[in-house]
Amino acid sequence: GAGLINIAIDGPAGAGKSTVARKVAEQLRYVYIDTGAMYRAVTFGALRAGIEPGDSEQVGSLAASLDIRLLPSENGQKVVLGGEDVTEQIRSREINLRVSRVAAIEQVRTRLVSMQRELAGRKGVVMDGRDIGTHVLPDAELKVFLTASVRIRAERRYRETGQADRVDLEQLEREIEQRDRLDSEREISPLICAEDAVVIDSTSLTIEQVVSQIVELSRTKKVEAK
Ligand code: CDP
Ligand code: CDP
Repeated sequence: GAGLINIAIDGPAGAGKSTVARKVAEQLRYVYIDTGAMYRAVTFGALRAGIEPGDSEQVGSLAASLDIRLLPSENGQKVVLGGEDVTEQIRSREINLRVSRVAAIEQVRTRLVSMQRELAGRKGVVMDGRDIGTHVLPDAELKVFLTASVRIRAERRYRETGQADRVDLEQLEREIEQRDRLDSEREISPLICAEDAVVIDSTSLTIEQVVSQIVELSRTKKVEAK
């Protein structure tokens, strides 16, 4: 449609991408797409099928056959795998510890990236992940690289973790660092800041401050795009 742009938000785990992306989409009346949820859904499917996350051949062919749907819901987005709502289940520590290995598999990325591009076919999308600005939507009018210190990211995650998955803060910090390392060092579309991305460090910013910065940036990009 006229006047719509695409917004890519990338960054490390717990920087606030999904929270912020959802709110930006709400304010602009755009569609929010959480690509991390798709990698999580594949990881969940592999676990359930008893496939090791490191078994790239088996995980790859599973990824090709899975029926993954992202549906809009009250609080943003619902993830449906083979007809089953797995939105909550894909947030577990079990998945956190395995998802980066699944996400490093070429066949997995090929399938999910093509789904993501299809979902963003029409403009008016806010998409968050690791490789959105660099690979999935290289032509996005606005690219944001959202970061924060690893300590504050671990603290934020600690506060939202349910009792069942509780580990101490130091342990959680190590697990986040490990996932960031795997995501940044993998061969295919690693987590890196796009050259033309605006870097926002949210370490000492509130969610609302980050949201309004991005909404403001989107207005200037919209004018430029005309
Ligand atoms: O929310 P959080 O930052 O913990 O993670 P997420 O965005 O749900 O992503 C989970 C994992 O999926 C990441 O650690 C990456 O391994 C992978 N991922 C990716 O490789 N590419 C994306 N575009 C999004 C996620
Ligand atoms: O998607 P990503 O992994 O980048 O992060 P998130 O799940 O959106 O945010 C992690 C947590 O940090 C959430 O509980 C947010 O409410 C919180 N947060 C915050 O406290 N301050 C910010 N400026 C951004 C996020």
